[in-house]
Amino acid sequence: MPEPFTDFEVVDQRLRVWGETAVLEISLPLAGVLRLWAVPDARHTTLRYPHPPRKTSFAVKPTPLQPLSAERRGDELHVQGAGLSLTLHLPDGRWEVRDAQGRALAQGQAAQGHPDNATQRCTDLHRTTLHLHAPPDAAYLGFGEKVGPLNKRGRHFTFWNTDCFPFSIESDPLYVSIPFTTVLHGGQAHGLFVDEPWRMEVDVAARDAGRLTWQSAGPELDLYVIAGPAPSDVVERYTCLTGRHPLPPLWALGAAQSRWGYEHADDVRDVVHGFRSRGLPLDAVYLDIDYMESYKVFTWNRPRFPDPAAFLQEMREQGIQIVPIVDAGVKAEAGYAPYEEALQGDYLVRTGRGDVLVGEVWPDPAVFPDFTRLDVQAWWAGQMRHLTDAGVRGVWTDMNEPACFRVYEAGPDSGEMSRAGAITEGKTLPYDAQHGTKRHLEVHNAYALGMNRAVQAGLAAAHPDERPFVVSRAGYAGQQRYAATWTGDNVSTWEHLALSIPMLGGLGLSGVALCGSDVGGFAGDSSGELLARWTQLAVFYPFLRNHSVRGVAMQEPWRFGPEWLAIIQSALEWRYRLLPALYSLVWQAHRSGWPILRPLPFHFPQDVQALERDDEFLFGPALLVAPVTGEGVAVRDVYLPPGDWYAFHNLQGASQGHQHLSGPQTVQVEAAPDTLPIFLRAGAAVPLTDPAPHTTTANWATLDWHLGLAEEIEGELYEDAGNGFGPSRLTTLRGHLSADTLTLRREASGDLALTRQTETLYLHGIAGVESVDGTDDWQPQEGQLVLRVPADWSTLTLRGVRRA
Ligand code: GLC
Repeated sequence: MPEPFTDFEVVDQRLRVWGETAVLEISLPLAGVLRLWAVPDARHTTLRYPHPPRKTSFAVKPTPLQPLSAERRGDELHVQGAGLSLTLHLPDGRWEVRDAQGRALAQGQAAQGHPDNATQRCTDLHRTTLHLHAPPDAAYLGFGEKVGPLNKRGRHFTFWNTDCFPFSIESDPLYVSIPFTTVLHGGQAHGLFVDEPWRMEVDVAARDAGRLTWQSAGPELDLYVIAGPAPSDVVERYTCLTGRHPLPPLWALGAAQSRWGYEHADDVRDVVHGFRSRGLPLDAVYLDIDYMESYKVFTWNRPRFPDPAAFLQEMREQGIQIVPIVDAGVKAEAGYAPYEEALQGDYLVRTGRGDVLVGEVWPDPAVFPDFTRLDVQAWWAGQMRHLTDAGVRGVWTDMNEPACFRVYEAGPDSGEMSRAGAITEGKTLPYDAQHGTKRHLEVHNAYALGMNRAVQAGLAAAHPDERPFVVSRAGYAGQQRYAATWTGDNVSTWEHLALSIPMLGGLGLSGVALCGSDVGGFAGDSSGELLARWTQLAVFYPFLRNHSVRGVAMQEPWRFGPEWLAIIQSALEWRYRLLPALYSLVWQAHRSGWPILRPLPFHFPQDVQALERDDEFLFGPALLVAPVTGEGVAVRDVYLPPGDWYAFHNLQGASQGHQHLSGPQTVQVEAAPDTLPIFLRAGAAVPLTDPAPHTTTANWATLDWHLGLAEEIEGELYEDAGNGFGPSRLTTLRGHLSADTLTLRREASGDLALTRQTETLYLHGIAGVESVDGTDDWQPQEGQLVLRVPADWSTLTLRGVRRA
């Protein structure tokens, strides 16, 4: 039953409201963000009542609070500040949050506790419940790494990081938990973030079409209501709260090859030779668990890798970074230093009874560092020297949900722990495993965060002049501060290829801009066609890695014959052409949190058709990408959202013949196996470069801008050395078309010297011009105007522009 709230006070910009047993705390962490933290049974669960318990968030970085004012009017409490207002109906805890324009963002009822809470220690997984109103026409996007269409309305999800080998297109939960959604309602967006690492569930208007319901196994619910009105505002604010990606090294954005099965240094040499001898671009090879000795983390299997430092150096000379896997479980073996140190330092997770918890992962028996603790993170960061001393600059963290196949009763010889003794959900640690004073149920979802933080810190400490790179399987809200994410163990099927689009779209909307799925599929046999189509799609994955499990068909680009190899080769070359645009988007993600691979509603929130298109996406603001997602398909429908679009298939304009189309409309596009349908948005400017065997610098020697003619044009290019923390340059290109005169301006800022001599501008949508001020080198070419200009150009004026 809802209980009435009676008293309130404002202390240090926090409004506390009390009921008989409950406390609500309302604060404004940022402009446009309201936090409503409810502890329904505070009287029973905290000794400090009427104050709420202490809370340290794993996700949110504390910031000085915004000023807040509160006033009681009759039965209502009115709260104002940070461009938002909240009305709380005191008799029953109903509340409503509105934005500065008076638009209702969220309506709900103060979270309720389980009826048993007051009388006994509640073990119910639905201990605290928060109901929010779900308007019938609202769409719910994101929720991190989840299956299904982009719009999650009508689904029910669990947040409990889970090792799924392999996952299916209906599996839930998966490896990452991000309890955050972008709500689209009436063409405008707002966000809802529930900052609880406890096991949680969300019902997205599935059981009750009018309700979004969050249920936590914990005693509180900590809700952030985030104002829009654009989806970009919501992600920007959410990542202001939870952090953004550091800028990765450029090499991490190149193509990567991996296989659970590259066991020896010679296997890797063969793979690299396979790429280089065929002129296939490649920047990194990922080393799976077989590089270790008996799956002991921080070791090298010496017979297989006799001199790791020399081997990594040899690879670097060929433009290849070696990225080893680091698993969370530590082998429990007497004399193995990390294990001994962990025991001595008391760094390990314990069972509910207080013994060191022993389980099975790849190492068997294995123990689990308690990564929720800062001292354990510092110790793990120190262990990283075993890898960094050999020259490792990037790490792949895995099994960090944490995965644990079984838990032993009292050591490996004792047999599996009885189910009655400890509840285990999925292949992980029991609910009652201990992390200091906390139970696993409370911190499970945040476990990977601490591990990734430690790995990142270890890399940074060893190579302070380089940017660390970590890609992780598991994570929680705020994950992006430490690591990129890949979507775990997918399958080599067309359904999985197609699923990766809304899945990565959802991750991107949830702050994880740097994400990708195993290209070609991890489990099961891939085919030439599947790998070719998947590589075409993955050109636009922020993180591009071909990876597969041992025992399935080999999956390197040349394994399926010359016809498919040629297609895959072209796709990998597109990736390298795209790097200036990709790198600039990564820089933007680092600055603003915006996704790179963007679901259509990110830019077209008012377009209901865009919401339905899970088989296409935008790459940044400029490119609409419509990959082929089915076998034997050679023509597909492409939905063009409102605005003008120029055909730009395979990142080429004129060679395919000029095509200028206006949305909204759905068009049929020929897409033979070597063709990837792409459209350039009118008003966009995209920087491309030449293909290369691997990345070197992000101060590109060749630069081609592709511009889509419109009244206003804008594009951005970020450049630096591609690694380290040295000089950088930001170039903005703007165009303005007035009658038949197009004026283009280039503005550059920053301290990186320009080294290229010229740039080329491809103006899509221009059939011809009378004159150009600023360069003599121009020519019309099938609906495009091609201009060669000095790289330091500042203004170009095109007169007598004839539209194509
Ligand atoms: C997990 C990872 C997979 C890896 C395997 C062996 O299943 O998700 O990528 O290849 O473990 O380490």
